[in-house]
Amino acid sequence: MKSEYDVSLEGAPRIVTDLPGPKSREMLKRQDKYETHTRTYTNIFQLAVNRASGSTIEDMDGNLFIDWFAGICVLNLGHNHPVVREAMEEQLDKLVHINEIPSEVRVEFLETLESVLPGKLRNKSKVMFTVTGADACEAAISLGRFVSKKKTIVAFGGAYHGVAGDIIGATANHHYRDYAGLSANNIYHLPFPYTYRFPVKVPEEDISKVVVDQLEYLIKDPYSGPGAIGGVLVEPIQGEGGYIVPPDDFLPMLREVTEKHSVPLIIDEVQTGVGRTGKIWASEHYGITPDIMCISKSIGGGLPTSMIAYREEYDSDLPPGFHFGTYRGNPLALAAGNAILNYLKTSNLLDRVTQKGEYIKKRFEELKDRVPQIGEVRGKGFMIAAEMVKDRKTREPNPELTTKSKTSMFKRGLLMHTCGHYSNVLRHMAPLTIPDNLIEKGLEVFEASILENTRK
Ligand SMILES: Cc1ncc(COP(=O)(O)O)c(C=O)c1O
Repeated sequence: MKSEYDVSLEGAPRIVTDLPGPKSREMLKRQDKYETHTRTYTNIFQLAVNRASGSTIEDMDGNLFIDWFAGICVLNLGHNHPVVREAMEEQLDKLVHINEIPSEVRVEFLETLESVLPGKLRNKSKVMFTVTGADACEAAISLGRFVSKKKTIVAFGGAYHGVAGDIIGATANHHYRDYAGLSANNIYHLPFPYTYRFPVKVPEEDISKVVVDQLEYLIKDPYSGPGAIGGVLVEPIQGEGGYIVPPDDFLPMLREVTEKHSVPLIIDEVQTGVGRTGKIWASEHYGITPDIMCISKSIGGGLPTSMIAYREEYDSDLPPGFHFGTYRGNPLALAAGNAILNYLKTSNLLDRVTQKGEYIKKRFEELKDRVPQIGEVRGKGFMIAAEMVKDRKTREPNPELTTKSKTSMFKRGLLMHTCGHYSNVLRHMAPLTIPDNLIEKGLEVFEASILENTRK
């Protein structure tokens, strides 16, 4: 089946030159001359892009790649999706930037977003626009600290919430500083219930309880060490940490204990949101309502935008200008976001993601049966991981094999990225609209590349 509105370029994967090809090499050289060498993605995928459409990326030399990384979950509908493109084009004629002043696109976006928020946030929450994922997370913890009047935030090992912060310390107006600018001293990390590598040897079914009991101890006991807990920040499924799906009881237990102690529960849906896991929000799999939710990546259809949605009552005492910024709620991004959410609401795409996600996971598991270096396969929807190890028994991470396999995939025309504590997890995060034939072709490349690198 070709998925609705799929605009992938025909013929992928197609590799017609050595990689990187001569034109890509030239472009990489020109980039190198001026742009910092600290870039990471140019080292991961050595190509220069000519164009991208659907689930395909064509380089400057005519090589055509299958895209299994979607700009790190930024393009859930794929590149150049007609629904997104039309919405942006229409908005382009009307308005490209204005600071917070209402326009149709902003208000329509707010109304659509509210109509799809999880649980008790739906149609009853407030929204604060931010710009990036990290910015949304900053706003979220500032808000948690403001409403709780407590300083310490609990996060989790393996968490990724962005790279920002501290510049607030250079802003002279204290108005902006009272609740922002969290130093690392005010963050306490608990282990995430990563069943494959949980540091405490307890039966798997007890892991959530061990973590949540520890949290409750931190909250309740004034001598526990980290100080009064003003919020718990968690990814419902960890992204950069390794596509780690917690046990089913973890988030409900976390919800229960934070509610019991009136500690704001901040759910970071930056990577998991906007349909990635087969529901609009991953929180929905667990039937929980966050107090504060961070949203970014695919909500902007490729343009940077983000926001937090939170309990209405949190809003009333906030001072004007709480968490400030110039680019909050870009009209083009909001037009895209509105179109994307409406598409997710009205199409059968999410059912397809669930179905196809299960199928892809099954194929990963079948490969695991043949390859002892695949330690674990896990995932939900289109967040699927294969964790690579040197030995199934010791579970020693195998980043070398992970990198080699990724390189082999690249050479065969599949862009697949990694993650994980030890960079030893291969992750599938293709656009949700990827057509069946590119799922199949991608799986063939995935399997062949791992077999090539594991065969004795
Ligand atoms: C869960 C999560 N939160 C926050 C961020 C940070 O987003 P940004 O890179 O837009 O700052 C990311 C980025 O990958 C993420 O995966």
